[in-house]
Amino acid sequence: MSRQPLRLAVLEAQRILTDAGVESPRVDAELLAAHLVGVPRGRLPMVPLVDPSVVEALRLLVSRRAKRVPLQHLTGTAPMGPIDVAVGPGVFIPRPETEVLLTWGLAALDGVTQPLVVDLCTGSGALALAVAHARPDAQVHAVERDPLALSWARRNADMRAAAGDTPVVLYSGDVADPGLLVALDGMAHLVLCNPPYVPLGAALPPEVAWHEPSAAVFAGDDGLAVIPDVVRTGTRLLCEGGSIAIEHDDSHAEAVPALLAARRVLTDVADHVDLAGRPRFATARRATMISPQLSPHPG
Ligand SMILES: C[S@@+](CC[C@H](N)C(=O)[O-])C[C@H]1O[C@@H](n2cnc3c(N)ncnc32)[C@H](O)[C@@H]1O
Repeated sequence: MSRQPLRLAVLEAQRILTDAGVESPRVDAELLAAHLVGVPRGRLPMVPLVDPSVVEALRLLVSRRAKRVPLQHLTGTAPMGPIDVAVGPGVFIPRPETEVLLTWGLAALDGVTQPLVVDLCTGSGALALAVAHARPDAQVHAVERDPLALSWARRNADMRAAAGDTPVVLYSGDVADPGLLVALDGMAHLVLCNPPYVPLGAALPPEVAWHEPSAAVFAGDDGLAVIPDVVRTGTRLLCEGGSIAIEHDDSHAEAVPALLAARRVLTDVADHVDLAGRPRFATARRATMISPQLSPHPG
């Protein structure tokens, strides 16, 4: 059979996705086509004609996307800053808003050589692996409670290590465990965490409600079932001057900074917005103790 215009197949895909209520039908149609022909989305116009088998493969992917299977489950990857990680059923898909937290964390490491970094609730490993990529001198540790998510993190860690990044140390663990990573107490220059934080019962799009692990998304009636443990564990792990950043629901712009401010050893508590301008993560720094001999004379 003769080759067919890709542009027409993409237009048809866009129409089907629009009818299915997909939020960004044109972008998704183009990304699925780009995935199939193996070019970046911006280079699709360079591929005017494709084999009928490509059109058929696009039709199949589009029919699954129309059933609200997440785009990233169909392409198999999601970006986090400078890297892509593999994702699929059983693991949370990294979100663009978390890249703002990553950027803040990397800036907090400016001037620190050979930093020790901990990513709590690592999921696919996205944050930990992006830090390891950006800071080859860092020693990065990452914790995940769910075995299936941890298997995705291991797969991603192996892929990044094979690509030349410094290996990340992965742990099966619970942030609520008082013994978690005790060997690293007082040693972390940076603790990052994107925990579950959506209040139970919140309305979510089908992509999330039907296809993402609920333990990665929801955290009790108020969405704050996990963050207090993150604050407690993260504070314990920080070295003096070390920084912590915790992502939160946009309704928690006061609650999460308050949890950080309640720890006497933390200072410089602040809240930050995401790319859409919504409150998205809270940060703090572990205070530096001034030794009594060096402190200024009280008089
Ligand atoms: C919102 S996902 C974030 C994953 C990843 N950090 C990211 O940004 O893509 C939260 C992750 O925390 C894990 N998790 C939930 N409760 C936990 C706990 N108590 N201890 C450790 N991990 C937990 C979930 O299994 C899930 O993988």
